[in-house]
Amino acid sequence: MPLSVEGEAATGGKPPLTRAEAIAIVVDCLGAAGIGDAQEDARLLLRAATGLTRLELALAPRAPLSKEEAGALSHYAARRAAREPVSRILGERGFWTLDLAVARDVLDPRPDTETLVETALACVADRRDAPLSILDLGAGSGAIVCALLSELPAARAVAVDLSEQACRATGANLARCGLSDRASVLRGRWAEALQARFDLIVSNPPYVRSGDIAELEPEVRLHDPALALDGGADGFDCYREIIGDAPRLLADDAVSIFEVGFDQAAGVAELLRTKGFEIERVARDIGGHERVVAARFSPPRP
Ligand SMILES: C[S@@+](CC[C@H](N)C(=O)[O-])C[C@H]1O[C@@H](n2cnc3c(N)ncnc32)[C@H](O)[C@@H]1O
Repeated sequence: MPLSVEGEAATGGKPPLTRAEAIAIVVDCLGAAGIGDAQEDARLLLRAATGLTRLELALAPRAPLSKEEAGALSHYAARRAAREPVSRILGERGFWTLDLAVARDVLDPRPDTETLVETALACVADRRDAPLSILDLGAGSGAIVCALLSELPAARAVAVDLSEQACRATGANLARCGLSDRASVLRGRWAEALQARFDLIVSNPPYVRSGDIAELEPEVRLHDPALALDGGADGFDCYREIIGDAPRLLADDAVSIFEVGFDQAAGVAELLRTKGFEIERVARDIGGHERVVAARFSPPRP
């Protein structure tokens, strides 16, 4: 993407672009690549290229871009136009109250997943200072486990993922958030290797139907790993596996909380009921979709 650069004015060319002009060019360029509502993306990329805070940019939109800044912005804009998500270009994303690193080959955590964090905290509201034990199955970047540990000061956690890159990312984000001393990260298939019992089991497993993956937006299809997306033919494979094994992992009064696809809440709730759970709450995401199912194990009395 061509951006005028500093120095052209001195050689009789056009004057250097101002920050506001550069943002307008990037918005056009991203719009032409099929990215709607690109204002926020363009601002974030310009801030990354210049190191400016939101306030500094707002106060001086007509300041000129240096040659280096224009070069960096041009590079970022080209990557975004190729449908790489802004969080991957910047290498970080805000999640809950935390700034997390976003790693290659690891799912970029989504704002919807904050609904799971909110629901989990609501389910243990009367035990916020208790030494709760948490199990996060499919930890990915570690977004959920980091957010929960940051809110539950006496809790400890085990985070499991099958992907080596995800385990590394979880470890790195726990360290980044100063939470490593209260968590262990294990590489493995769900809870297969675990014998302990937990007060809170949380999971945002892969839940996209295999046949739907090719239809996902390029930002997801090309940048999130298939292992984090593919939930099998009907999207429920991982829920069946995790829920089938969950009862042996539950401490007294434990709660299990799952993120689900926008049309899967009823199916996951039914699966939980058939395995002896009672549904405690179903929570909606900011888009109004039923996104999280929380349940307690309550097998029928003999
Ligand atoms: C949808 S991502 C969720 C990541 C993170 N918890 C989040 O909410 O952003 C699902 C995660 O499950 C992991 N996963 C997939 N199959 C697994 C398995 N059999 N055992 C353990 N983890 C698995 C993937 O590597 C991926 O990190």
